[in-house]
Amino acid sequence: MADGKRDIHNPLLFECAWEVANKVGGIYTVIKTKVPVTVSEFGDRYTLIGPLSYKSAPMEVEAEEPSDPHVAATIESMRAQGVKILYGRWLIEGNPQVLLFDTGSVYSKLDEWKADLWNLAGIPSPPNDQETNETIILGYLIAWFLGDYVARQTTTAVIAHFHEWQAGLAIPLCRKRHIDVTTVFTTHATLLGRYLCAGSVDFYNNLQYFDVDHEAGKRGIYHRYCIERSAAHCADVFTTVSHITAYESEHLLKRKPDGVLPNGLNVVKFQAMHEFQNLHAQSKAKINEFVRGHFYGYYDFDLENTLYMFTAGRYEYRNKGVDMFIESLARLNYRLQKAGSTVTVVAFVIMPAATHSYTVEALKGQAVTKQLRDTVTEIQNRIGARLFDHAARFHGEQKAIPTPDELLSEEDKVLLKRRIFALKRNSLPPVVTHNMADDANDPILNQIRRVKLFNNTSDRVKIVFHPDFLNSNNPILGLDYEEFVRGCHLGVFPSYYEPWGYTPAECTVMGVPSITTNLSGFGCFMQDLIEKPEEEGCYIVDRRMQSVEDSVNQLGDHMFDFTQKSRRQRINQRNRVERLSPLLDWKNLGIEYSKARQLALRRAYPDAFYGEEEADAFAESDYFGGGVERMKSTNSMPASPRLKGYATPGDMGTLTEDMQSLNTSDYRGYNWNQEVDEEDSYPFPLVM
Ligand code: UDP
Ligand code: G6P
Ligand code: GLC
Repeated sequence: MADGKRDIHNPLLFECAWEVANKVGGIYTVIKTKVPVTVSEFGDRYTLIGPLSYKSAPMEVEAEEPSDPHVAATIESMRAQGVKILYGRWLIEGNPQVLLFDTGSVYSKLDEWKADLWNLAGIPSPPNDQETNETIILGYLIAWFLGDYVARQTTTAVIAHFHEWQAGLAIPLCRKRHIDVTTVFTTHATLLGRYLCAGSVDFYNNLQYFDVDHEAGKRGIYHRYCIERSAAHCADVFTTVSHITAYESEHLLKRKPDGVLPNGLNVVKFQAMHEFQNLHAQSKAKINEFVRGHFYGYYDFDLENTLYMFTAGRYEYRNKGVDMFIESLARLNYRLQKAGSTVTVVAFVIMPAATHSYTVEALKGQAVTKQLRDTVTEIQNRIGARLFDHAARFHGEQKAIPTPDELLSEEDKVLLKRRIFALKRNSLPPVVTHNMADDANDPILNQIRRVKLFNNTSDRVKIVFHPDFLNSNNPILGLDYEEFVRGCHLGVFPSYYEPWGYTPAECTVMGVPSITTNLSGFGCFMQDLIEKPEEEGCYIVDRRMQSVEDSVNQLGDHMFDFTQKSRRQRINQRNRVERLSPLLDWKNLGIEYSKARQLALRRAYPDAFYGEEEADAFAESDYFGGGVERMKSTNSMPASPRLKGYATPGDMGTLTEDMQSLNTSDYRGYNWNQEVDEEDSYPFPLVM
């Protein structure tokens, strides 16, 4: 329990998440990109805590001895009791200290801890939920570590910041055991929200009315829900990543968040504007290579007149709006065909699913084009040699310039013909690059089948479903995700459930236009900050106040209009989008995290603040500088986006001293209680 004697001026920070040095989805991006600003504030008073994944940790973490003797002693004592621990430096920018627990090393304690959890907090735990078992073990290990640590180190205040329910179980444990730390819980979604939206409920109009226990029970997640809810309630400070999720949390977790901590990125500014444009051209050339191979035999379109659109993320078919994306692509195909357009759109869906490796067809496509390229290079070399030889031998004579027949030998012609014949194929270019574990029931494939986007010659919209995350060692699409995004023209993320949504935010800082929705935290954030986001290349589809049909049409219109742009217009738009980056920079948004920590300290150690003006001084300080200052334009740059009058992006945060001050009506965005068209139903009407 807080005794008020700890130094609150230079606190220690432990930040705990399942995705520390362990990539799953967006929370990894939050943690990793935020490290530089957190390290600049805390230095070695900052340690990240997470589970030890033997798959990723050896590549991401360098072992090291802790410099804090109390951390060393605590680790030693835990190791002596059988806990396997990796302590070291996470090899990312900022090089923070990490403490990773091998949950597998203490499975023998699972039953004891489950019983304790029931006795202590009344939280049940069924035997076969592996994810919950892992959560319980990690939670108990973190609470063990923190309890032991603060018993040894008694002079400095400790802030423990937890992300999402999988790391949050330690919060009720800290509270029940009166461990002298102050806690912050940030949720990046709610379990119920994710589950309810993935089904077919009218989520946003019924948020206030759900019988939460019943809904959780019906879906078999009651125990997980209890963990999440107790983390939210026991934390000194409870936050989330967007206003839309704050509203959701209030109704589903039954605690109003103390504030919103919008997600940032570690924005790297280039010296000159054209640098990121050049990167686009280089990356696009790599995607072109893939496309030539993938569409071999049917590669009859002009890559100079081809646009790459994509969607990406964890495979959540409805929540990520893949249903809407594919439907709109089918309509776009129809419109482009009708208009006699010569533009080709290649649409990528990058979403990991269960697969059995690449298809033979996909590998063959890359192989035959590679052979063709190799053969052309050989012939090219021979032609060069003949050209040189002729010129050298017959200089001064007319035949110094050889005829085409003299240059291309019969042998070369035969070789070339063999390669060209190898490009014939009997089937259309595949829509999926991998053998799916459950091809017949895959929702994405079924939707593609339904709308009949089969990569026919007549299709102006081609589709490639890559059911795995990208990396540069990939034999088919050998690019890292970042490179891939840069090479594309438009990111499309029509999410129905998206607490934040990093994918469009990442597009923005890389200068790639994107489409998102007003049901995503990011979309609402941009809509709140910028007067006309669509003019800046940040399109926001309304999935809130109109029917599904109207949303599909709006999305289709944005995509169609995009295909009508000239190259020059696309280049300009990329410049404009990239100019929005400071709005998403942790250098500006990190201050919200600082405020949350300050509030946590104040709540846990009110006496230590008595008579002090720290918080006010803190609030007034220009902590990170930046803000819209950085948005000033110079002559060579496009005009600055028109902001809606907030002084800095940090002003978007709502973190307040008074827990009660964030009312339902305060959430930014919409009046969430308004009625909406009843016709909002799935599935979509068939495409024409
Ligand atoms: N991502 C990736 N590789 C890919 C596709 C996506 O690393 O091939 C990353 C992407 O950079 C983003 C994250 O996955 O940071 C997805 O985060 P988001 O917030 O959009 O969604 P979440 O999965 O957390 O719901
Ligand atoms: C960048 C490059 C240009 C290139 C252009 C292609 O801006 O700097 O040299 O022409 O990309 O743009 P596009 O939208 O057609 O891929
Ligand atoms: C969650 C959400 C996603 C968000 C991410 C990081 O996984 O689904 O929308 O961007 O967390 O906060």
